[in-house]
Amino acid sequence: MSSLDGRVALVTGGSRGIGRAIALGLAGDGADVAIAYRRDEESARKTVSEIEALTRPGPGPRAYKASVDVLEDCRELAARIEEDYGRLDILVHSAGIASRGRAVADTDPAEPARLLGVHAVGPHHLTQAALPLLRRAERSDVIFVSSVISDSYPPFGAPYAMGKAAMEALAHTLAKEERGHGMHVNIVAPGLVDTEMGQRLIRATAGIENIRDHDAASPFGHVCRPEEVADVVRFLVSDAASYLTDQRIVVDGGTF
Ligand SMILES: NC(=O)c1ccc[n+]([C@@H]2O[C@H](COP(=O)([O-])OP(=O)(O)OC[C@H]3O[C@@H](n4cnc5c(N)ncnc54)[C@H](OP(=O)(O)O)[C@@H]3O)[C@@H](O)[C@H]2O)c1
Repeated sequence: MSSLDGRVALVTGGSRGIGRAIALGLAGDGADVAIAYRRDEESARKTVSEIEALTRPGPGPRAYKASVDVLEDCRELAARIEEDYGRLDILVHSAGIASRGRAVADTDPAEPARLLGVHAVGPHHLTQAALPLLRRAERSDVIFVSSVISDSYPPFGAPYAMGKAAMEALAHTLAKEERGHGMHVNIVAPGLVDTEMGQRLIRATAGIENIRDHDAASPFGHVCRPEEVADVVRFLVSDAASYLTDQRIVVDGGTF
């Protein structure tokens, strides 16, 4: 992997799961990494310590409490990044929540707006707030962590699927609008991944209590690890992907 020395990355949802693996991966490649989280401060602190162990002298990792679905939080977050790091080269939207797994007929009317807020409207707010910083970079990268749900649209997940479909619409539009400013915009769409969200998902959809019990039935003998998603992100923001933008990479072991 190429070196990300001198580049600053912000990873939303960087305290846990896929976002944490991405934050650690980018830091391992030399980036200065900041993470944003919603409420789990202990996990955020732990991730910051893990990043500290990987990084050299420099501004160092920081964790910011910011809900991506709150416009003021997004503006404040971008301002803090400018204040603390002076630049932003890589923005990864990994923050996410699952929906309740109910049919449209039984879904709480507030749920679609909540899911759209976290997965699409929030990333729109944050990207917009960070644009002046991103445009200043000779090359910038924005990565959206979506899901294979927007390939299959299975039943009992409309709010989540709506959120990811809208997120992808934002990504494809942004890629065309900002290419002239040196921005690369790409989507990574995982299938089931071994995180807290993945564990809850497999329990709710298949009644499997321990996600490890799903290893044997999974491609390559294991449920996708967060690091296997992070590796794709590391490639996308690297020099090896210098002529790549507006793409969507599915990371599901060929399941779909
Ligand atoms: N796991 C899977 O099977 C899977 C599959 C496909 C796609 N994905 C997508 O991958 C992304 C990461 O999922 P994950 O499995 O890593 O989930 P996770 O382990 O539950 O972690 C979710 C992360 O998002 C943060 N977050 C949630 N709502 C937020 C908000 N409003 N503002 C800021 N941060 C927020 C959480 O912070 P707090 O802890 O502070 O709440 C946490 O850091 C999500 O977008 C998800 O939709 C996951």
